[in-house]
Amino acid sequence: MNINRIAILGSGSMGTAILSGLLASGFDSSKVTITTKSEANADKLADELGVTALALETQPTANADAVAGADVVLVAVKPAYVVEVLKEAAQTLSADALVISVAAGITTASMEAAVPKTVAVVRSMPNTPAIVGRAVTGISTGSRVSDKQLETALELFETVGRVVVLPEEQIDALSTISGSGPAYVFYLIEQLTLAAQEMGFAEDVAAMLVEETFAGATELLSASNQSPEALRNQVTSPNGTTMQAVAVLEQAELAKLFSKATAAALARAKEIASGK
Ligand SMILES: NC(=O)c1ccc[n+]([C@@H]2O[C@H](COP(=O)([O-])OP(=O)(O)OC[C@H]3O[C@@H](n4cnc5c(N)ncnc54)[C@H](OP(=O)(O)O)[C@@H]3O)[C@@H](O)[C@H]2O)c1
Repeated sequence: MNINRIAILGSGSMGTAILSGLLASGFDSSKVTITTKSEANADKLADELGVTALALETQPTANADAVAGADVVLVAVKPAYVVEVLKEAAQTLSADALVISVAAGITTASMEAAVPKTVAVVRSMPNTPAIVGRAVTGISTGSRVSDKQLETALELFETVGRVVVLPEEQIDALSTISGSGPAYVFYLIEQLTLAAQEMGFAEDVAAMLVEETFAGATELLSASNQSPEALRNQVTSPNGTTMQAVAVLEQAELAKLFSKATAAALARAKEIASGK
């Protein structure tokens, strides 16, 4: 692992998910300093994970203190706080530090402007399956990132799943697919579960039928070397029952609906970036 010491500024669901992946890969917890807003959350994470945890509530300079001596700084606060947190930390950042943000909509240019000129920045977009080590993360480099630093960012996110490197212009588009994607999948699960209940299954049985079907089908897709279309065709006998159901789904033009949904997400990302 290229990382020597890491600071994680903001350790809520995403910060903690990546921290857990890093520790599970064997990274030494004594080389990690994290920050949170509340003391209770800092104490809990220090107890559970054995890291040094500083709370802004009791230590207003926590972000600046945490980054001192770190070669990698992961910023996982809400987007609205990213630039403010970087400005707090700027004075104590190592000259050759790599700053990696997971915040939606915050550009590398705005982060580069908040840190000293020698500090490199990477922007990323992971998704919530990071919590179970099955994330897909997109990463884009700022203007000062060396090949070794890119390798470091890849290594960090590979501890929680798969990583794709892409130009920054594409990161909002990636966000509409894999960033928001888990919500689309959960929504499909919710809707099919309602249909199962309408068919007369009790709530818990309906949930089990649908959740296991999604989990089983995606596991089958991963394990086989066949396309989703080929696997679908295997379930769809000519003139059988599945064929009737799929015909109804096709009439609803799901592909167009997904295009509309992802376009709406992209439009909102642009609004957020322009401060709306
Ligand atoms: N969740 C997702 O699906 C997802 C996906 C991709 C990217 N992201 C990005 O991840 C970032 C964090 O999201 P999240 O869902 O993990 O949020 P979250 O659970 O609310 O976590 C935010 C963390 O920041 C801490 N915090 C608040 N103000 C702070 C400050 N000034 N300095 C240091 N720490 C501070 C909070 O402390 P307390 O614990 O004490 O409240 C908390 O630990 C966002 O920028 C988001 O865009 C999230």
